[in-house]
Parts: sequence; structure tokens; C-alpha cells
Amino acid sequence: MRAVRTEIIEADREGIERAARLIRTGGIAAFPTETVYGLGADAFDADAVQRIFTAKGRPADNPLIVHCADFGMVRRVALEIPLAVERLSAEFWPGPLTVVLKKRPEIPAAVTAGLSTVAVRIPAHPAALALIRAAGTPIAAPSANSSGRPSPTAARHVYDDLNGKIPLILDGGSCGVGVESTVLDLSGGEPVVLRQGGCPLERIEAALGQKVKTIGRENGAGETGQSAPKSPGMKYRHYAPACEVRTFGGGNVSEILKAHENCVQKNLKSAIITVEHRKNLYGDGRVLVLGRDAEEAARNLFRVFRDAEREYAVLLCEELPEDGLGAAVNDRMRCAAAGNELKNEN
Ligand code: TXA
Ligand code: MG
Repeated sequence: MRAVRTEIIEADREGIERAARLIRTGGIAAFPTETVYGLGADAFDADAVQRIFTAKGRPADNPLIVHCADFGMVRRVALEIPLAVERLSAEFWPGPLTVVLKKRPEIPAAVTAGLSTVAVRIPAHPAALALIRAAGTPIAAPSANSSGRPSPTAARHVYDDLNGKIPLILDGGSCGVGVESTVLDLSGGEPVVLRQGGCPLERIEAALGQKVKTIGRENGAGETGQSAPKSPGMKYRHYAPACEVRTFGGGNVSEILKAHENCVQKNLKSAIITVEHRKNLYGDGRVLVLGRDAEEAARNLFRVFRDAEREYAVLLCEELPEDGLGAAVNDRMRCAAAGNELKNEN
């Protein structure tokens, strides 16, 4: 791949128009969403979409999310809109919920990795919405990191990963949610959460008035290849900083302290990652605080990973309670830890 000059420009009217022009003419551009930064292309242009996979080094069997500005656009992407989508969209769109639906034939196989379904969402960031409208087309976009790395929550993170590989980054500041959207499969009979994310499971269940299954990465994600993964990307390494990550169930203070001590003895610089009110439990140990609650933890997690990898060899992460955004934060921590073992990159 020939190196290109990567520009970071402000996500104002002029910047958005430039990015939209790029996307209209078969190019790619990174842009802010409320969850994480995305790397976008015209969802109907297979060649442009291919450029995303090349820039990220993303395996071709991991499909992309198509970002729409309104319901009319969703209809250009999805073959049928189940009733559940109408119910969920009233509450969660624009916002961090992605639904998997049967796809229209016009959506190229490159976007969906050859699946008969397509993942769709309406993002809540004003710059993302303005970009989609100005481009006049749905935008296919994965997170704008190099495959396998923590997702980018600031323009700088995109630059650090993709400098020389993409022409343009729209800078819209730091992302408010900080973890990716929740992916909910509505293409079959029963709704199934394929990836926990910015829209908490309990809220989806309340909106649908029913319990919703989740496919954990441990059962059905296909890491060991025994079952076909429903969300193909899950078998790959994810969210992993350049240092080692270990996770510990909440309340495991003595184990964490032991692991920390172990690192000290081996001369490995390690940090404990937890939330504000648990910081004092770790005495003088090096603690990196994610925030006061799960929402702040979600907002800061990937930035903390990216900052910490420059300084530490090992990160000891204390898991949060599973409710609200805790489930998504824990999932990202566990995946980053599993990254040490998984064979491939995503
Ligand atoms: O918040 C987000 O979702 C961000 C922003 C940019 O919108 N995007 C994002 O995209 O996280 P990405 O590509 O990093 O993750 C998309 C996830 C992957 O796990 C992928 O396997 C799954 O969605 N996915 C996409 N299309 C699918 C489909 N047709 N069926 C099942 N899973 C799908
Ligand atoms: Mg990603």
C-alpha cells in the first residue's frame, strides 16, 4: 500500500463537506461517532469498502456496520424492518444500538462478509449525522483503529494507528460513550445480543418487554472453531493494547495485589485498573482510575489502555458489576486479556 498523507481537520461544516466529497467519490475518511471513531466508505461501493479492510488490516470475514442518518436510509439497506426495530428505534436511535437485519441485494458482499444480513445503526453524533447526510449515502464503517487494537475515542488515536494509510480524519473531540454500540441480531426469530455495548441489555429488555439472550464470546464466539460464530468478528483478537492485560472478578483485591507484587518481583512495571471508589483498597500500588462509575469507565477505558501501554508491561483490570455499561466494559477488558491467546488479529 502506498503511503498517503493523513490530515486531521476539524469536524465543522467545511471539514464535513470535504469528508463527504471523499466518500461520494469512492474514498474513505475517519469520523467521530458518540461511541468510538469510525472509518467510513459509501456502503454501496465495494471498492471503497475494500479500502477500509486494507487500511485497518481487517480480516475479510468480519462484516461492517452501516451507518444511516434516518429511517428512510435504513430501508435502502435492510430488506424488511421487523416490528421490534420500530419499538427499539423510538427509544434508542439515534444512539449506540446496532441491529442485524436481512440485507438488500444492493449492499455488496464486502460489507457483510458474504452474509445475508446487514448490521445497521443511526449514530447520535451530530458530525456523523451531518456527514452521512452530506454524503447522501449510508456509510459502512468499522471502528477506526488498526485491527486488534483498542478502539479510538479521539482523533489522535486514529492518527496513531492509521497515519499514512488514510487521507482524512474529522476531529470531533472525545467520544461521549467510549465503547462501541450494542449489536442486536433481529434477523432470526428471537432477538440475540451479539456484542454488549453502549446500549445496556436491561434497557433493551425493558423496551422489548422480554428477556434477551446474549452470545458470550466464551460460548458461540467460535474462538476454538467448534461452533460457527453468529457475529464473525468475535473470534479475532480485539481491543488489545501493546502490553499484557489480565482481568479479575470484582472484589478480588488480594489476588490483584498478589499479581501486582509478582510483577514487581519480576521487574515488570504493572498498574491496577479500577474505579475511583475502589482505588484506596490498593494502597500504594499503582492505580489507574477509569472514572467514578460504569459510564465514566466506558468513556475512558480505551484511552487508559492506549496511554498505559506506553508505560506499563502489565495491566491488572478489576471487573465492574455487570449491570448498565459494566457488561460492555468487562467484555472489552476480557477480550483484551484473551488477545494474548487468540491467533489472529481484528
Ligand atoms: O459503535 C460502533 O459500533 C462503532 C462505530 C464506528 O459505529 N463501530 C464498530 O464497528 O464497532 P466494528 O466493525 O468495529 O464492529 C462491528 C461488529 C463486529 O463484531 C461485527 O462482527 C458485527 O458488528 N457485525 C457486523 N455485521 C454483522 C452481521 N451482518 N451479522 C452479525 N454481526 C455483524
Ligand atoms: Mg472494531
